[in-house]
Amino acid sequence: MVRHRILSERAAGGKPSATLAIAARAKKMQAEGADVVSFAAGEPDFRTPPHICDAAIKAVNAGAHFYTASSGTPALKKAVCERMRQDIGVNYDTDQVIVSPGAKFSLFLAFAALLDPGDEILLPSPFWVSYPEIANIFGVNVIDVPTAPNFTLTAEMLEAKITPKVKVLVLNSPSNPTGAVVPPEEVRKIAAFLERHGIFCISDEIYSQLVFGDARHISVASVSDYARAHTVVINGCSKTYSMTGWRIGYAVGDALIIDAMGNIQSQSTSNACAIAQAAAVAALTGDQTCVAAMRQQFQERRDLIVRLLNDIDGVHCHSPGGAFYVLPDISAVFGRTMVRRQINTPTDFCQLALEAFEVACVPGEAFGTDRHIRLSYATSPAQIEKGCIRLKEMIENNN
Ligand SMILES: Cc1ncc(COP(=O)(O)O)c(C=O)c1O
Repeated sequence: MVRHRILSERAAGGKPSATLAIAARAKKMQAEGADVVSFAAGEPDFRTPPHICDAAIKAVNAGAHFYTASSGTPALKKAVCERMRQDIGVNYDTDQVIVSPGAKFSLFLAFAALLDPGDEILLPSPFWVSYPEIANIFGVNVIDVPTAPNFTLTAEMLEAKITPKVKVLVLNSPSNPTGAVVPPEEVRKIAAFLERHGIFCISDEIYSQLVFGDARHISVASVSDYARAHTVVINGCSKTYSMTGWRIGYAVGDALIIDAMGNIQSQSTSNACAIAQAAAVAALTGDQTCVAAMRQQFQERRDLIVRLLNDIDGVHCHSPGGAFYVLPDISAVFGRTMVRRQINTPTDFCQLALEAFEVACVPGEAFGTDRHIRLSYATSPAQIEKGCIRLKEMIENNN
C-alpha cells in the first residue's frame, strides 16, 4: 500500500492568522474573568448602523433566502459602481464588479486569477499578515520591499526591487499594520512604475474611508488608463460600516480578470450571503454620515494613543494618516529585564504584556518586522488609557 503524506505541501506550509490567534486568546482570558485590555482586534468596536441592520431584517422578511448570482446581486453591483464613481472617481460597469464573502476572499480570488506558481509579487513591509500566506497557498514568491522608518513607501523603493518575474504589486493604503497612507503624488509615481514594467496591481483599499487630517487617499486605479486596466481594487463593508461579521467584500477591475475571479468563486463559495448583500446595498447607497462619525472617533483615539505611547520611555510611535492601528517601535527596550524576564523581541514583549499585565498587542514578527508591535485603537478611550498605563508600568517600573 502506498503511504501518502497526510497534508499537501500547500497546507503544511500554512500558518494560522497571528492576529486572530492573539485576539482569540485575549477573548478567552476575558471569558475566564481576566480584565484584559485588547489592542489585538482588527475590527471596529462600533455596532453596525441601525439603517443597515433594518435593511437586513427587511430582506429576511421579504424572502432573501436563496442563492444569488455568484458574483453578487445586480442591486449590490450597481451600488458598488456608484460608490467607486463617487469615492475614487472611476467608472466601472457591473461586469467589472464581483462581490465576495469578505475582502479577504476577494484578495484570494485576485491572487488566484492573476498569479501562477513561481510568479513574484512586490510586497511593501511591514505588511498585513494574510498577503504572504495567500501567496504561499498559490506558490507565489514574495519580494519584500521595506518601507522607510516612518513607513513611507516610494516608487523608487519598488523600482529597486523589480525583477522580470514580478507580475503584481500588492498595495495597501491606508495600511494595516502601519496606518500609513501613500500620498497622491507618490500614487501617481507608482502608477507610472506599474506601466513602465507592464505589471499589475492588487490595491487593497479596505481602509480608504478611514483617513484623517491632511492625509488623502487616492486610488492607483484612478491615475491613468494603464493603471485602471491593470489594477484590481479590493474594498468592502467590514471596516467602513463596522460590518466585519457580515462578510461582504468586493473587487473591481478589468472584466476579463473579474470574470476569472467569478469562475473560481462560483466553484468554491458560490455567492456571499443574500441577506448581507441586501444590508450592503443599504450601507453603500444610504446616508454616509455614520462613516464620518466613526472616522471622527477613530481620529480622536489615534491622537490619544499616539500621545500616551510616546510618553513611555523607549517607545516611539508615528502618528499614522489612516486605518485604526499604530505600530510603535519598541526596539529601544530590548535587552531590558521586566518581571524577571529579558525582553529581546516583539513576541517576548507581547507575551509578557498579556500574561503579566493583561494587555493584548500583536508582535511585529507577524507583519515582517522585529522592532514593532501593533496596537489596534478600535476600542474605547477609557480602554486605551487603561492599556497604555499598564504598558508604561511594565516598561518603566520593572527594570
Ligand atoms: C488590509 C486588510 N485587507 C483585507 C482585510 C479583510 O477584510 P474582510 O473582513 O472584508 O475580509 C483586512 C481585515 O483585517 C485587512 O486588514
